[in-house]
Amino acid sequence: MHLLTPLAAALSLPLSEAFRRSGHETLDELQPQEMSAKRVAIIGAGAGGSSAAYYLSQNATKAGIHADITVFERSSHIGGRSTTVNAWSDPNAPIELGASIFVEVNHILVSAAKTFNLSTSSDDRPKPDGAPELGIWNGEEFVLVTSAEDGWWDKAKLLWRYGLAPIRTNSLMRSTVGKFLKMYEEPAFPFKSLSDVAEQVGLTNITGVTGEQFLKANSIGDQFANDVIQASTRVNYAQNLPLIHGLETMVCMAASGAMSVDRGNWQIFSQMLKASATTHLNTTVAKISKQADKTYALTTSSGDTSIFDIVILAAPLQFSKLVIDPAPKHVPDQIPYVKLHVTLFASPHKLDPTAFKLDPGNLVPQFVLTTLLPNENYGSDPNGVGSTGFFSISIVGAGLNPRSTPKNRPEYIYKIFSPKRIDSVFLSKILGEHVPEEGESANGPISWIYHKLWHSYPYEYPRVTFDEIKLDEGLFYTSGIESFISTMETSALMGKNVARLVVDEWIESAAKQKIEVSEAGEGLKLQPEVGWEFKGLKDQEIQKPLKAKL
Ligand SMILES: Cc1cc2nc3c(=O)[nH]c(=O)nc-3n(C[C@H](O)[C@H](O)[C@H](O)COP(=O)(O)OP(=O)(O)OC[C@H]3O[C@@H](n4cnc5c(N)ncnc54)[C@H](O)[C@@H]3O)c2cc1C
Ligand SMILES: *[C@@H]1O[C@H](CO)[C@@H](O)[C@H](O)[C@H]1NC(C)=O
Ligand SMILES: *[C@@H]1O[C@H](CO)[C@@H](O)[C@H](O)[C@H]1NC(C)=O
Ligand SMILES: *[C@@H]1O[C@H](CO)[C@@H](O)[C@H](O)[C@H]1NC(C)=O
Ligand SMILES: *[C@@H]1O[C@H](CO)[C@@H](O)[C@H](O)[C@H]1NC(C)=O
Repeated sequence: MHLLTPLAAALSLPLSEAFRRSGHETLDELQPQEMSAKRVAIIGAGAGGSSAAYYLSQNATKAGIHADITVFERSSHIGGRSTTVNAWSDPNAPIELGASIFVEVNHILVSAAKTFNLSTSSDDRPKPDGAPELGIWNGEEFVLVTSAEDGWWDKAKLLWRYGLAPIRTNSLMRSTVGKFLKMYEEPAFPFKSLSDVAEQVGLTNITGVTGEQFLKANSIGDQFANDVIQASTRVNYAQNLPLIHGLETMVCMAASGAMSVDRGNWQIFSQMLKASATTHLNTTVAKISKQADKTYALTTSSGDTSIFDIVILAAPLQFSKLVIDPAPKHVPDQIPYVKLHVTLFASPHKLDPTAFKLDPGNLVPQFVLTTLLPNENYGSDPNGVGSTGFFSISIVGAGLNPRSTPKNRPEYIYKIFSPKRIDSVFLSKILGEHVPEEGESANGPISWIYHKLWHSYPYEYPRVTFDEIKLDEGLFYTSGIESFISTMETSALMGKNVARLVVDEWIESAAKQKIEVSEAGEGLKLQPEVGWEFKGLKDQEIQKPLKAKL
C-alpha cells in the first residue's frame, strides 16, 4: 500500500490530478526553493529508452522540475533493434535490419515523425516488372498469390474462398486495437501495473489464449487462419498460431497504413534523445547499486561511477548483463526469445521460379511469406518453421552496385528471415545460380551480403500477468511489455508511461513537502528527497488514522 493515497485524500489534495486541472502550470507553490535537479539514468537507447527520455523531459519541464537525463547505450548506435545497415557500405543505401514497419494506429511514432519533420513512405519497395506482390508458400505450393495494387484488406475481402473469415478477422482486429488504444488515455494511462491495465481494458482474455484458440472462438475459418493469418504471425514474429497469443496475432493483422521513416526508423529515437538527454554511446552499464540514501550508483564496464535519483532500465534485463545490487523487490522473469537470422543481400537476379515449383518464365512474388503444409503440425513447439525452412523472403530495395565492373550494375536487395543461418547452398537454390561458399563478390550473383542474429522478440506464449514496471523504489523497467506486444510503438508507449509515473511521483513528493510545511510540529517530519518518517512509527501505522478520515 502506498502511504500517499490516503494521505492525499485525507487532506483533500488529489495531488497531481487536481494540480493539473487547477491550471497551475508549475510547482512553484509546492516546490521547496532548494529542490535540486533530478538525476535520471536511462539504460538503453532503443524505442523504450528514447521515448522515456523524451517524455520525461517534457513532463518534468511542464511541472517546473529540472530533470537531468543521461542515456547509456552499449552499442555504437541509437535505436536498438531499430537500426539500418548500408548495402555495399554505401551510405546512400540504408536498409532496415530490425524493426522496419509501423502503422497508422501507432500514435506515438506517427506523431513523433511529424514533430521531427521526418518523411515516411508507405511503399518504396521496388518489384520486378509484372511480378505479383505477395505469395504465401508452404513448401509445396503457393496457397495464395495477390497482385492488385489496392490494400491488403481489399484484396483479402475479394477472396471468395475464405468466406466471411477476412471480414470477421478485420472486425476482431479493430475491436482488439480499440481496447489497446484505451491504454493511451485516462483513466488507464498512466498505468502502474501492466497486468492490471491489460485486465482493465479487456485484453487478458486475448493474451491468455493462443492465436489458434482465439480465432476458433471467434469463428474464423481454419483455412484463412492457416493461409493468411499464420503467414503474418510467421513473418512478424517467427511463430505459428498454436504458440503465439491472441493479442500478438491481432497485432499482425493490424497492417493498415503501414509506413517507415525514409532512411531509417531509428531517426525518430535519435531526435527524441537530441531533444531531451545526454547520450553516451559505446557505454555499457555493468552495475547499479542502491545507496543508503535511496539513490543509485551506476557503474559502467570501464569503471566510471555516477549517482542518480532514478534509473530506468529500457532493455530486456536477461540480455543486459546488468548486476542490480541488492536484488530489486521485483525481478523480471527470464523468458525465451526468438533467435532470428536476418540475411540481407544484393543480387542482379530474380528468384528462381523453379525453386518455388513454378513453371520457368513465371515470376516469384516480391514478398514470399510462408505457412505450414496441411499435414504439418508443430503445436506450440518454437522450432516450427516446417518444410519451407524459412519465414519470409522479400525484395526490400534496389540499387546500383558501386563495386561492379562496369560500375553501377542494377540489383535487387533481398531480406530473408529464418531460424538458421542462410548458406550458399540455400542461396544457390533460390536464385538458380551457383553462389560460391565465400558469398559475396563484386560481379558475382551476390555482390553484398550481411548476416545478423537477433534476439528479436519473445516467444509470445499465452499469459495473463506481466513483469512489474516499478522494480523497486527509484528503479523502473520498460521491457516487460514485450511479452504483451513487442513493437517499437509499445516500447515507446511504455517509455512514455514510465516517464509519467516518475514525474507524478516527483509531484506527489513535492506535495508532501508542502504538507510538511503546513503541518510542521504536528508529528510529521519530512526527510527531503527520502520520504516520510513519522516519529517512531512505520508507514502502515500512520495510514490507519488518516484513512479513517476518508
Ligand atoms: C528483425 C526484427 C524485425 C522487427 N520488426 C518490427 C517491425 O516491423 N515493427 C515493429 O514495431 N517492431 C519490430 N520489431 C520489434 C522491435 O524492434 C522491438 O520491439 C523494439 O525495437 C524494442 O525496443 P526497446 O527499446 O524496448 O529495446 P531495444 O531496441 O532492444 O533497445 C535496448 C537497448 O539497450 C541497450 N543495452 C542493453 N543492455 C545494456 C547495458 N547493460 N548498458 C547499456 N545499454 C544496454 C541495447 O544495446 C539496445 O540498444 C522487430 C525486431 C526485429 C529484431
Ligand atoms: C506529459 O507529456 C505528454 C506528452 O507531451 C502529455 O500528453 C502529458 O499531458 C504530459 N503530462 C504532464 C503531467 O505534463
Ligand atoms: C563507438 O565505437 C565504434 C566502433 O568501435 C566507433 O566507430 C565509434 O566512433 C564510437 N562512437 C562513439 C560515439 O564513441
Ligand atoms: C519542421 O518544419 C516546420 C515547417 O517547415 C518548422 O516550422 C519546424 O521548426 C520544423 N521542426 C523541426 C523539428 O525541424
Ligand atoms: C473477454 O472477457 C470479457 C468480459 O471480461 C467478455 O465480454 C469477452 O467476450 C471476453 N472475450 C473473449 C474472447 O473471451
